Amino acid sequence: MDVKPLAAFGAEITGLDLTRPSPALAETCFRLFDTYGVCVFRDTGLDDAAHVAFSYQFGQLEHAPLIHTRAHRLSLPELFDAGNLNADGTIRSDERSRLFSKGNQLWHTDSSFRPERSSYSMLLAHITPPEGGDTEFADMRAAYRALPDDMKARIEGLEAEHTIWHSRKLAGYPDASERETTMIPGARQPLVLVHPRTGEKALYLARHIARIIGLPKDESDALIDELIAFATQPQFVYVHQWRVGDLLVWDNLCTMHRATPFNDLGYPRDMRRTTVRDRPLEIPA
Ligand code: OGA
Ligand code: MN
Repeated sequence: MDVKPLAAFGAEITGLDLTRPSPALAETCFRLFDTYGVCVFRDTGLDDAAHVAFSYQFGQLEHAPLIHTRAHRLSLPELFDAGNLNADGTIRSDERSRLFSKGNQLWHTDSSFRPERSSYSMLLAHITPPEGGDTEFADMRAAYRALPDDMKARIEGLEAEHTIWHSRKLAGYPDASERETTMIPGARQPLVLVHPRTGEKALYLARHIARIIGLPKDESDALIDELIAFATQPQFVYVHQWRVGDLLVWDNLCTMHRATPFNDLGYPRDMRRTTVRDRPLEIPA
């Protein structure tokens, strides 16, 4: 195995065969995830089943909800569709699903709007556009460490209300329907998260945050903006340019990420993601 740390943070790992799960592979990966926050694996050779099997080594997997489609394009329930294709392989052009996807262009962490939240997301590139469509990652441990002491003191112990419908609203998605809010109601999360494996503190931020509990709305909005602007300065950010076969694993508890624009009506982009739960559900979905 060869590990090449990336400039801002994260690492590119070569020489690991991800297609054959084993306790030794899982242990090696856990250590890499703990150290680097974002791990880039190139030319993985993973198909859907192997992608899902690799992911199950790290915990329970979320099942992708049916939000604005009647049927999933992908055959395995654990695969989230982060691309722009219809089930028949044509490019998606309906406005509602385009706006929903546009929400991913806001800085966020996956599933912070669920009480059980998510530890790792594992995104595999199947088709990439010829230009655009990079994904950016920000290091929430380094950002936390770099905060002035008075800010650290101010945010200690604060909690935030996360809901996916807030980030969708910011992206221009219409007000969520009652069915949508019932399906994904939201969750309260600490603003500073102590990582369950490493014990390190990190900012737990996302544009899913609708408000910080106990603060007046203007103060809450200003604090969210200030923290996200601080935490996404260039020195904390890695920009990933995708190649087909790349698997990126990021730790949602100590990173944020966002999609970047591309010509989504002109080029297919097929990206499939598994999402590992941080805290298991008592009754798995
Ligand atoms: C995701 C996500 C960004 C992208 O899959 O969680 O935010 O560039 N993806 O597709
Ligand atoms: Mn995401």
